Amino acid sequence: MIPLPKPPFNAIAPSILSANQLILGEQIKAVTELGASWLHIDIMDGHFVPNLSFGPATVKWINTVTKLAQDVHLMVEDPQKYLDAFIKAGASSLTLHVESKGNLKNLLKQIKNAGLCAGISIKPDTKPQVLEQFLDVIDLVLVMTVYPGFGGQAFLENGPKQIKEVKKIIANRPIWLEVDGGINKNTIKIAKAAGANAFVAGNALFGTDNIKQAYKDLKDAIE
Ligand code: DX5
Ligand code: ZN
Repeated sequence: MIPLPKPPFNAIAPSILSANQLILGEQIKAVTELGASWLHIDIMDGHFVPNLSFGPATVKWINTVTKLAQDVHLMVEDPQKYLDAFIKAGASSLTLHVESKGNLKNLLKQIKNAGLCAGISIKPDTKPQVLEQFLDVIDLVLVMTVYPGFGGQAFLENGPKQIKEVKKIIANRPIWLEVDGGINKNTIKIAKAAGANAFVAGNALFGTDNIKQAYKDLKDAIE
């Protein structure tokens, strides 16, 4: 397992959901060479969100083509069912949704005990205050700025408010504040100004035909 880098710096996390899965290895090598901070891997079960994506085997194979850490975002109804498989596959961090089933605090502890980073995510309509109970076990908060399920959606208007509230809750703790959904060279600035320090980008990178320029645009926007 490759450890997730420690905060704080401004991290860019390409989301492979928008990559061409037939040339996934090449696309991952490209963002690795561009200096991406880590990879964001969206896992969907068709229940928690109306879409399907990857599984543990994807994580295992990705570890053979890059030295980047893998930040695995579990958009699944019952995360407990999948924790062991993703830990075994070599995920660097596992992020659970507060809206999913199970004793989340225990699951987060299980993730930490296995040596991974533990993350918790909130959907756009979830009140950030729910995060307070997890502060002593988490390394990362993932704020959704689109309704989860699909890449290429527009950054929601209440995104900055959510990010600011989460930032207030995290305060000076060494916890990543990662933002996910609709990040492009304009919205990345808004997210940074609101307090985020890690930025997931799917469509803004893999949806272009010049990934090098697209990466530079994102990087320049937060420098
Ligand atoms: C949405 C996913 C995101 C998605 C972001 O459910 O969690 O990680 O890949 O994609 P873009 O950057 O295209 O909005
Ligand atoms: Zn995601």
